Amino acid sequence: MKVAIIGMGSVGRGLIEMIATKDLGMIVTGIADSKSGIINEHGIDLQKALVRKKETGLCGDPKIKAMEVVTNAKYDVLVEVSPTNAETGEPAISYMKTAMQRKKHVVTSNKGPIALAYKKLISLAKKNGVELRHEATVAGAIPVFHTIEHGLAGNEIYAIYGILNGTCNYILTRMADEGLTYEQALLEAREMGYAEADPTYDVQGIDAAIKLVILANTVWGNGVTLDDVDRTGINLLTPDAIRLAEEEDCTIRLIAEADRRTDLLRVSPRIIRKNHPLVVNGTLNAITIVTDMARDITLIGRGAGSVETASAIIGDLLFIATCYDRRS
Ligand SMILES: NC(=O)c1ccc[n+]([C@@H]2O[C@H](COP(=O)([O-])OP(=O)(O)OC[C@H]3O[C@@H](n4cnc5c(N)ncnc54)[C@H](OP(=O)(O)O)[C@@H]3O)[C@@H](O)[C@H]2O)c1
Repeated sequence: MKVAIIGMGSVGRGLIEMIATKDLGMIVTGIADSKSGIINEHGIDLQKALVRKKETGLCGDPKIKAMEVVTNAKYDVLVEVSPTNAETGEPAISYMKTAMQRKKHVVTSNKGPIALAYKKLISLAKKNGVELRHEATVAGAIPVFHTIEHGLAGNEIYAIYGILNGTCNYILTRMADEGLTYEQALLEAREMGYAEADPTYDVQGIDAAIKLVILANTVWGNGVTLDDVDRTGINLLTPDAIRLAEEEDCTIRLIAEADRRTDLLRVSPRIIRKNHPLVVNGTLNAITIVTDMARDITLIGRGAGSVETASAIIGDLLFIATCYDRRS
């Protein structure tokens, strides 16, 4: 299978390293970052590309732009791993549309396009007879969409509850374990590289809400948007609130909830029993899927990371390879 990759940051490099070192049956024929691109229909030397990126900051030739790779490279699947633009989804939406119009499959970890334009993108995929897969957009390495689509096939999905933001979970874990204030825990999260310089997106629950929208739209196709999510962040939580919860053998976690039966879509700090399956520590993510036959299934795993996110992307790529092999 021939793959082109747009974005050579943490996720793109993790993916390239895995394709270079594991026998996955893939060759990479195009790569682009923000300032350069490289195309080789016989397969790019990935180790060389990784070294070049590290040494020069460029993956290829500065004269070759990302859209040129999308338009001209010979590939079966475009992997779109450029930064999330939560306002417009661009330029990733244009990359994805262009690839699908060329009848190429798309795999992405980019939340922006999927949260903002899922319906349009998925109908474009159907129209062109290609796949659009986005396992890595929600909960990193956790195979939530594969589990729902395949492992839970035939089940009715009633509700989904999750810890979808590792930064918030880390802050809440440290506040509970060490009695830190929100500000102290946030500072520590920054020092550990878990929180951005501007943590608004995480601590106000926006990131978790975007993932909830992606989950609801993918599973139920109900066309919800970020505005439909009732959202409260963790930035106003006090150590006292956590201590009071602890006294009841409970703790506080930022829980994202989507319930089809009541149309509930909410992200908020919730008091939950310490022995509840969703109470995971540190930067871990967790998702409980509530169904009619299997009842409750909880998945726990790493919600971010270079190779962890690459795992979800590779799962999507190999799914496409298997399906399309069988059909041809
Ligand atoms: N990191 C994670 O653990 C994780 C987990 C799940 C999902 N995601 C999502 O996956 C995507 C990639 O994440 P990341 O951590 O790899 O981001 P990153 O480290 O910031 O890397 C982004 C890459 O995209 C390139 N890029 C920037 N603007 C571009 C443009 N206009 N056209 C083409 N390429 C462009 C950058 O180029 P330069 O190298 O030239 O700057 C860089 O190579 C994001 O959407 C993120 O939200 C990340």
